Amino acid sequence: MDVQITDLRAGDEPKIQQVAKLIVEGFKEHWPGAWPDRNSALQEVQESLGADRISRIAVGDSNQVLGWIGGIRQYDGNVWELHPLVVKTEFRRQGIGRSLVADLAAEVKNRGGIVLWVGTDDEDNQTTLSGINLYPNVWEHVAQIKNLRGHPYEFYQKMGFAIVGVMPDANGIGKPDIYMAKRL
Ligand SMILES: CC(C)(COP(=O)(O)OP(=O)(O)OC[C@H]1O[C@@H](n2cnc3c(N)ncnc32)[C@H](O)[C@@H]1OP(=O)(O)O)[C@@H](O)C(=O)NCCC(=O)NCCS
Repeated sequence: MDVQITDLRAGDEPKIQQVAKLIVEGFKEHWPGAWPDRNSALQEVQESLGADRISRIAVGDSNQVLGWIGGIRQYDGNVWELHPLVVKTEFRRQGIGRSLVADLAAEVKNRGGIVLWVGTDDEDNQTTLSGINLYPNVWEHVAQIKNLRGHPYEFYQKMGFAIVGVMPDANGIGKPDIYMAKRL
């Protein structure tokens, strides 16, 4: 299938609606609190169209949106946060996520960015960093991280990201946010 990556444009209401649906569906299994309904998702999508943002979609046959990636400018443009990233469930493991990350990295580089980073939560024991007290030897846990149930940190490692930190209990006790970054 032919997949094109393009800007999500303000005013392209049909695509904005598709993207909102994509994040509600795509995050509900492991991050049900992220975008629990269409309204919260639509707000996120609208914010991605603002200044200092990048918002790109992967579009397949019949104008179907198969994935979405966003970037947020930080640290005077040296650093950009990847937020969010989602691929439609039935189109995963076909290289679309990889293409979206590569596309965002190129867009960020074009704007002079040198670091791309992402925070990837573990709220339901997908990795060995979840469900435990990470203190006081936080880095020992990080160094020995294991993927128990398909957490995306391993996807990001394949895209060249390294774990640069962790925020213990970011989403409640035992539910950390894993910080990852990559030099462009
Ligand atoms: C994470 C996500 C974006 C990956 O997209 P995708 O299109 O399936 O990824 P790709 O097919 O491009 O995969 C690239 C590589 O990463 C691997 N990979 C993909 N998802 C993975 C996962 N969850 N765990 C481990 N490896 C993974 C693939 O097997 C592939 O490996 P290979 O190059 O050795 O063959 C997608 O699973 C998704 O939308 N998940 C739900 C939302 C989410 O987790 N977003 C990120 C939160 S920060």
